[in-house]
Parts: sequence; structure tokens; C-alpha cells
Amino acid sequence: MPRAIISPSVLASDFGQLTAECNRMIKGGAEWLHMDVMDGHFVPNITMGAPILACVSKGVPGIFMDCHMMVADPEKWVNDIADAGGALYCFHLEATADPLSVIRAIRARNMKVGVAISPDTPSTAITDEVANAADMLLVMTVYPGRGGQKFLDRCVPKVAELRARFPDKDIEVDGGVGPKTIDVCAHAGSNVIVAGTAIFNAPNPEEVIASLKTSVNT
Ligand code: DX5
Ligand code: ZN
Repeated sequence: MPRAIISPSVLASDFGQLTAECNRMIKGGAEWLHMDVMDGHFVPNITMGAPILACVSKGVPGIFMDCHMMVADPEKWVNDIADAGGALYCFHLEATADPLSVIRAIRARNMKVGVAISPDTPSTAITDEVANAADMLLVMTVYPGRGGQKFLDRCVPKVAELRARFPDKDIEVDGGVGPKTIDVCAHAGSNVIVAGTAIFNAPNPEEVIASLKTSVNT
């Protein structure tokens, strides 16, 4: 399995102190920062967009922004997110009829490619061609739209199915992940771990980051 990567979801942070919050996570051992971009169309909520990401990349030198694009028209935002310093552009399979074209657009801007599936989308919806063209596959373990939801166990088998098909690919889980749910995710083969409330609401985020990492690596 590829190496463990912890990607705290800044949706659970204090947006008034966003760059300080990101720096705090990096100091605490996080490799990536998970940026939840919601457009009010693909999901009902609106969170942040390219202008805020640009501020974060300026205020947090060397940050790897793992951009989770919960947007209706994923191709539309590729240039803006690349200009803002996005390192990985993860779009939802449900949001496009032509994933390969979105992937080509992301590659053209030198970002890494992620492909996400929501709880009701089967792992088989990710074709070999799409998966092979991507760097990372994201299995949502809650319905996209907001933080702090309950982990959906029924999504876990999809992680195992994808790990069996793609032994070397990064596989991310997102939604309700924390110390209580990490073991099933890690056991199924996920190596990129998103956690929002479990990290930001903890008295010692660095301890949670370290323990999530240990669970993946053991
Ligand atoms: C949900 C987002 C998640 C979420 C994770 O739509 O994609 O990244 O913020 O937050 P927690 O870990 O609190 O479920
Ligand atoms: Zn997310």
C-alpha cells in the first residue's frame, strides 16, 4: 500500500484564522490540507473558492492543497484552482459525463488528479481507464455537503474493491473519519485520510494526526 498521508479538512477550522490553522496542522504533522470547495449546485452549501485558496497558498508556504471539488461543472474551475496554487484537483464522477476530458484539463495545468465517488455510486463506476489516468481515488464515507456527519460503514467495501483493483494508487476516505473509524478504513486499504472535526476539535490535534498515521502504517 502507498504511504500514509493525513489531510485535515479545513472546513472544521476557524475560517477567520485560516492560514494560522493550516500552519498549525502542518506543524502537527499533516502532509496535505483538504480544501472543501462547494458551489451551492452540486451540493446545497457554499464554502470557499479560488480567491481564498490563493490567500492560503500565499500564507502557508509549501502547502499541498488537496482540493475536493464538490462542484457541478468540474472543468470550469480547473484554471482558477491551478492559478490559486491547488496541488491536487479532485472532482466528482457524478458531476461529469466526460471524466477523461476533465482529467486532461487538470493535467494540462500540472495538478494531480483525484476522482471522487459519493456514497450511492458503486466502485465499478470508476472504469480502469479513468482510474489509471488518475493519481487518487476518493471514496466518500458521508454524503458530500457538510462536515461533522456520521461515518457510513457501508461505503468501506468500496475501498477494499478499489484497493484490490489498484494496489499502488492513493485511495482517500473522507467523512466522519477519526480515531474510532480509522481502523476499518485502513484495513480496507485507504492510505489518504481526511479528517475534519476529529482533528480540529481535538485538544491535541498532533496526537490525532500521529495516531491516524500509525493506524494506516500498521
Ligand atoms: C464533506 C466534506 C468533508 C468533511 C469532513 O462534504 O467533503 O471533507 O468536511 O469533515 P468530518 O471529518 O468532520 O466529517
Ligand atoms: Zn472533502
